[in-house]
Amino acid sequence: MDYAKLLTDMHRSQPLYGRLRDALEQAIKSGELLIGARLPSERELAAQLGISRTTVINAYRELESMGMVRGYVGRGTFVCARPEPGDSPFAWRGKVSASAAHLDAALAPGGLLRRLRSVKNPHFISFAIGAPALECFPVKEYRQLMDQVLNRHADDVLGLAPTEGQPCLRQAIADRFMVKRDRILILSGAQQGLNLIARCLLDPGDAVIIERPGYVGAIQTFRTARANLIGWDVSRSDLDELEDLIIRHRPKLIHTNPTFHNPTGRILPLRDRQELLKLAARYRLPVIENDPYRESHLDGSPPPSLYELDGGNIVIYLSTFSKILAPGLRLGWLLGSEYLVEQLTAIKQRDNVFTEGLGQMVIARFLQSGLIEDHLSRLRMEHKKRRDEMVKALERHLPGQAISFDIPRGGLYLWCRLKDLKDGIDSRQLLQRAMREGLAFAPGDIFYADYAKGLAFAPGDIFYADYASGAGSRELRLCFSASPVDKIGEGVRLLAKCLS
Ligand SMILES: Cc1ncc(COP(=O)(O)O)c(C=O)c1O
Repeated sequence: MDYAKLLTDMHRSQPLYGRLRDALEQAIKSGELLIGARLPSERELAAQLGISRTTVINAYRELESMGMVRGYVGRGTFVCARPEPGDSPFAWRGKVSASAAHLDAALAPGGLLRRLRSVKNPHFISFAIGAPALECFPVKEYRQLMDQVLNRHADDVLGLAPTEGQPCLRQAIADRFMVKRDRILILSGAQQGLNLIARCLLDPGDAVIIERPGYVGAIQTFRTARANLIGWDVSRSDLDELEDLIIRHRPKLIHTNPTFHNPTGRILPLRDRQELLKLAARYRLPVIENDPYRESHLDGSPPPSLYELDGGNIVIYLSTFSKILAPGLRLGWLLGSEYLVEQLTAIKQRDNVFTEGLGQMVIARFLQSGLIEDHLSRLRMEHKKRRDEMVKALERHLPGQAISFDIPRGGLYLWCRLKDLKDGIDSRQLLQRAMREGLAFAPGDIFYADYAKGLAFAPGDIFYADYASGAGSRELRLCFSASPVDKIGEGVRLLAKCLS
């Protein structure tokens, strides 16, 4: 950027600082000055242009108030956003706080999944979003229970409710898990539980052990909390390696999804569960057991939960109705010590005074009446059909192992590896092709915290993405449960077409 020429073409009727501001705005708009670029110091620019330093300061201040640049004491002034099109009063992007800008960048890969949630095209096939077979949702029973609740308990569902959840739902869950009701917190989804735990237990810089690859929502939550994410390799699940990580990093927490893990579908064997709990006890380390897929078993029940094995001592248990009823209900729950539940409730009520009540009362009755068991059997049968269809279609359309995978015994996903070809494409490129054909899946890289680690700060806290780590670039996650059988065959055919 040639700053010496900056003022030559500008309207001379304006005050000088206004001309300088407009010229810089124009340079940012045209891309001549890129986001992340450092502007000359006020003194330097004043000398170059032969104007006063006050004029430059005023121009920079105006640009800062317009959200286009940001000044950092001792570091200088940086371009942080382009002007927004239309008549927006300022560049909103440049107005967000540094921590929110961090979040924005960390969410960028997940942004794809967010966009996919709103695709309404009936011909589009999505293997990307993790949802159960919504065709199995018990509409008739749900409607009847809703009528009952509205007729008999309208005051309870329409009025203010306790932050920790409707007593009847807490009790119904307490009965299933054989714990005291006070140990249960009702959530607007398990994701809310993760956020509450992070806010309650973590300070910036604390280390957290998460699985690698692991649940993308956990990566985002702990990143946002400014935690230092330490990956524990899921494919090895080596307990010595875990102990080594604990000794080296002194983490505050372990987050694990040991049963039908998202994205790999793996089950942590009973012995490893016991070993993990021994380690957690030895190092006095809280464990978050994130367990949304326990009821989604397809070939026999999984081992007992960490929570059950530990007796609710150092394990905080999270689960959700998103994967067994519908994600749109936004209802999940947490089991923890009474003290922790109290603390988390206090944090929760700051931004979610209480969770929606009608759904809670309906689901409480759904659980207590036993209707849930019939529903789960039907759901498992349908999921099994869909899993088997996806496996069959992959074997039919992609012979010769262009893709390899293990058949999961539960959960909602097939975790696939692309064969290592010299000129083979990676899963991001494959996704681009697939999207053009009307198909989506989750690319492997979003499940690796390395991705976020690769995001570096440019001077001035402005992000740029660096995909250098390459983790997950040859992996993809296909959700088999959310698409009807005929769509599964068609989707896999499209995938094969994109790979050929
Ligand atoms: C391991 C895990 N935890 C939590 C969630 C989110 O659950 P909810 O919809 O209840 O927020 C998911 C969804 O994909 C998940 O896989």
